[in-house]
Amino acid sequence: MTPHKQAQGSIAANILHAIELRGVTKSYGAIQVLKGIDLSVTDGEIVALIGPSGSGKSTVVRCIHQLTGIDSGAIYFHGELLGYQKNGTGQLIALQEADIAKQRQKLGMVFQQFNLFPHMTVLSNVMEGPLQVLKRDPDEVRAEAQELLAKVGLEHKKDAYPRHLSGGQQQRVAIARALAMRPRALLLDEPTSALDPELVGEVLDVVRALAKQGITMVIVTHEISFARDVANRVVFMECGQIVEQGDAKATLMSPKTDRLKAFLSRTNVNV
Ligand SMILES: Nc1ncnc2c1ncn2[C@@H]1O[C@H](COP(=O)(O)OP(=O)(O)O)[C@@H](O)[C@H]1O
Ligand SMILES: [Mg+2]
Repeated sequence: MTPHKQAQGSIAANILHAIELRGVTKSYGAIQVLKGIDLSVTDGEIVALIGPSGSGKSTVVRCIHQLTGIDSGAIYFHGELLGYQKNGTGQLIALQEADIAKQRQKLGMVFQQFNLFPHMTVLSNVMEGPLQVLKRDPDEVRAEAQELLAKVGLEHKKDAYPRHLSGGQQQRVAIARALAMRPRALLLDEPTSALDPELVGEVLDVVRALAKQGITMVIVTHEISFARDVANRVVFMECGQIVEQGDAKATLMSPKTDRLKAFLSRTNVNV
């Protein structure tokens, strides 16, 4: 290798991705559900993760959020190894739960089933993390929580309890709650799939607005036209592997692999 090429190589290797998975494998019992996932997400990028049910999409985001451990490979967030540290001989040693919790704060997660605290008002739900975990000033946290609720169109519901909200409203509160932790990236796992069809649009609108603000996002979704409009890149998974990925519009308009073609024709949407 010429010195020039060597220098180029080392510059490329130094680019820090917001999220980077390298050779991640994961099994449940005898079944390998992630078979070596390599995925890099740059800062501010919106990545839509699509694929058939059971292909491993939720497992990918759960691994990134450290809700489940990995068997091999590594996951980095802004260059920091998540969930593990390397000992003197380069072996990976799992971090203590308290250290994992600290890393997890940097990544917001929104689940299919909202998971709001039922005994707390909407405002308290949004304030809880910044107060209890980040130990921030209550007045400042309240003001910011109200701003976030305004952003998701729910300031008028701040004193309501989750049970008095529609599913779409609850999910918008869940998004505000995730943002209240000031995450550097947001992971969303099928945020609209538990909603009645008429409530899907209001949640997608909120995600669309966030995408415009440049927050790094990985969103698992079966809303293909939404992925085409909002995501920079689409990643198609099947059977624990990434089968195809690329620019969202180009990939969804003209898929290269037969498997993505078949998947898109089954989802029956006109992209
Ligand atoms: N906690 C678990 N225990 C055992 N098997 C699991 C668990 N979570 C997921 N799986 C299995 O892993 C595979 C991938 O699941 P998942 O990541 O949820 O797929 P997707 O989100 O694409 O539908 C599926 O076969 C699923 O049954
Ligand atoms: Mg899933």
